[in-house]
Amino acid sequence: MGLDSWLEAQKREEGYWDSVRKEGYVVTKESMYRFSRLLSLLYESNFLERTSQENLLDVGCGPHEGIFAMLHADESTKVGVDALARLYKGKSSRKIEPITGTAERLPLRNNAFNIVFCVNALDHTSDPQMAVDELYRVTEVGGVLSLMVHVVGLKKKAIFQLFHSYWFVKKVLLPLRYDRKIKLIFRMILKMLSIFYREDVYDIFVDGYLHPHYITLPEIIQMLRSAGYYLIHMAVMEDPWVNKLGTYFVLVKGT
Ligand SMILES: C[S@@+](CC[C@H](N)C(=O)[O-])C[C@H]1O[C@@H](n2cnc3c(N)ncnc32)[C@H](O)[C@@H]1O
Repeated sequence: MGLDSWLEAQKREEGYWDSVRKEGYVVTKESMYRFSRLLSLLYESNFLERTSQENLLDVGCGPHEGIFAMLHADESTKVGVDALARLYKGKSSRKIEPITGTAERLPLRNNAFNIVFCVNALDHTSDPQMAVDELYRVTEVGGVLSLMVHVVGLKKKAIFQLFHSYWFVKKVLLPLRYDRKIKLIFRMILKMLSIFYREDVYDIFVDGYLHPHYITLPEIIQMLRSAGYYLIHMAVMEDPWVNKLGTYFVLVKGT
């Protein structure tokens, strides 16, 4: 899974945000739900009060104002970065104008932010470990990473990897994509596999095109540790909007 699947996913992401804008939403209810869960965890960890008069960053904020829509922190400096920030440029009234950039190479100084947010974006990047290392670089020493990411079990990940492998997509799927009958048969096969696997294989197949990565809980914990973060608080819960678990983290960059 690399740049190819990221570019494919970003094309779909662009379509998704266009439909959000057409429906008139600034921030969707799904995002609001995840923001509020993450802010509750920040509150429980006694870090929420640190969001005033501080330098705040939201990476993968979406083409809108991201978690800042929910944060009353008028005296803080707020920076949002998103690979698709150009999409809404100047088109809506919002608290910030996000910068176009990638999480893997943040166009930002070292140790510049007191709190870094990253909500539902890590499994959308082309290289999650590189992105986590960059989040760490721009967090000040003693600063906080407030992260939400979806995780899956090994069975879901294996199905995802099979149907989104370079070989399968390029050699099997793309050559067949214009044939409606073959598409229908393929969909039926996926439905039948769902009975065998006891997982909605079709759902994983479709959802996978929006996600260059499916990450397991041990994998995300390992990524955060290897970047250098200390885990302060973690919550794992069902996400009412998708068939995956939502994990919420509060982490600190130590000395
Ligand atoms: C599911 S959206 C989440 C947006 C927002 N955080 C929210 O919760 O509403 C994922 C976002 O990550 C962005 N993204 C994907 N890959 C990225 C990358 N490598 N660097 C920065 N942003 C990226 C996408 O453009 C998209 O806006």
